[in-house]
Amino acid sequence: MNKIDMRVDFAGISMKNPIVVASGTYGFGREFGEFYDISQLGGISCKGLTFTPREGNPPPRVAETPMGILNSVGLQNPGVDEFIAKELPELRKHDLCVIANISGNTPEEYALMSEKLSRAGVDMIEVNVSCPNVKCGGLQYGVVPELAAEVTAAAKRSATVPVMVKLSPNVTDITAIAKAVEAAGADAVSLINTVRGMRIDVKTRRPVLKMNTGGLSGPAVLPIAVRMVWEVSNAVKIPVMGMGGVSTGEDAAQLMLAGATAVAVGTANLVDPFAALRVRDELAEIAAAQQLTAVRELTGGVLPW
Ligand code: FUM
Repeated sequence: MNKIDMRVDFAGISMKNPIVVASGTYGFGREFGEFYDISQLGGISCKGLTFTPREGNPPPRVAETPMGILNSVGLQNPGVDEFIAKELPELRKHDLCVIANISGNTPEEYALMSEKLSRAGVDMIEVNVSCPNVKCGGLQYGVVPELAAEVTAAAKRSATVPVMVKLSPNVTDITAIAKAVEAAGADAVSLINTVRGMRIDVKTRRPVLKMNTGGLSGPAVLPIAVRMVWEVSNAVKIPVMGMGGVSTGEDAAQLMLAGATAVAVGTANLVDPFAALRVRDELAEIAAAQQLTAVRELTGGVLPW
């Protein structure tokens, strides 16, 4: 089998391979670092950070569904300052792209966090305008093109590293949001975040999640992700990081053929701590079987009927 060049350039950042671990599914890498050297990954998108620490939503806040999970974690995190003091120095001991995912209550909070995190030495900021589990910030900014653009512009004004905007599938036309954040200066987009959903316990007649609704992730959402990555890749010029239900190399290849330059593995990490490395290796095998020399040749390679 020929050796595949797995390197990709993502918004000006060189990554040793296109596989990133998705925010909220890998913490800050500490626990996974006990299984393997996380430098083998292309990158890590850290658990979503807010300006001040958050305990998240009350339990129950995670439930299984057929081919997925529903979560309403509510951005539990130690806050941006503690991340910079305690987690970032550990992460920087590894050779991978460190992406800080941020959610703010106001555009100013996005700007302040972008400034702090750039100065502290992250490689990229992921502006989260798509968390479905918080009242302020998050999805509120991600469903209106003008608001998504305002938050993007605020982050861009303060960041000295590339800014990627994480888009929600819970919209009528995701390309309208993608185009708005591109026009506001975004260097990349990532998609999809979770799909809003709900489960009801028939015996108790109560929703299974305390917050009633949550975000659906896992293999069930992959076809939605592939469709949206394809639509967005055809609508904008900035690079796309595809995610949503990736658990095999074939899933990752689908997202790349749809137009993604990099691919994030999320919920699969909760099932198998080695999932991201397995996806990377299976992706390399697919590229080799198709006689490619570099994995980046898959990007946008879907053929018309
Ligand atoms: O509830 C959560 O912490 C999820 C965040 C997200 O989907 O961005």
